[in-house]
Amino acid sequence: MRRQLGLVTVVALSLATPALTETAPKDVVFDGGKVEASLTGAPGDPANGVKVMTTNALGNCVACHTIAALPDVQFPGNIAPPLDGVASRWTEAELRGIVTNAKMTFDGSFMPAFYKTEGFVRPGGGYSGKAPEGDLPPILNAQQIEDVVAYLLTLKE
Ligand code: HEC
Repeated sequence: MRRQLGLVTVVALSLATPALTETAPKDVVFDGGKVEASLTGAPGDPANGVKVMTTNALGNCVACHTIAALPDVQFPGNIAPPLDGVASRWTEAELRGIVTNAKMTFDGSFMPAFYKTEGFVRPGGGYSGKAPEGDLPPILNAQQIEDVVAYLLTLKE
């Protein structure tokens, strides 16, 4: 019984930890284009990364990038470089930086900044003709960014 309680405590703690160590978009530290530290403090899940990258309402990376390892994507776009072998060209910190805010690596890029909440040219707040109050939510959350980075790291030449 004692042992079981101990296990429950460990599980509860490990579930609680990511939220405590999660980095908010405005607190992300860039070193040039690089972001060294995991945004969640934990490794991402590559399978969920694929889901984020291929889902319209999430990353939708495949609207611009082709990925040979994902042959089932319908109507892939090719207006950006293919992501094949991307982990052989960029380090983990560089990839995290690109997915967090590509404009820090590629000046003036039209690739969306996926983890950013301030400094946008503001869209109007619903029908009011005024900018919405407060920060916009990021397109992806910290866990989704780490999941995408984990998948990108599997794309070696
Ligand atoms: C609207 C189009 C667009 C979308 C959507 C997009 N990207 Fe990009 N991405 C680009 C462009 C364009 C570049 C090339 C750099 C530049 O000149 O801006 C690029 C570059 C990159 C690179 C560097 C590639 C290399 O080999 O040099 C990576 C990695 C990358 N994108 C990952 C992603 C991921 C992951 C997503 C989804 C979460 C994504 N991109 C979504 C347009 C896009």
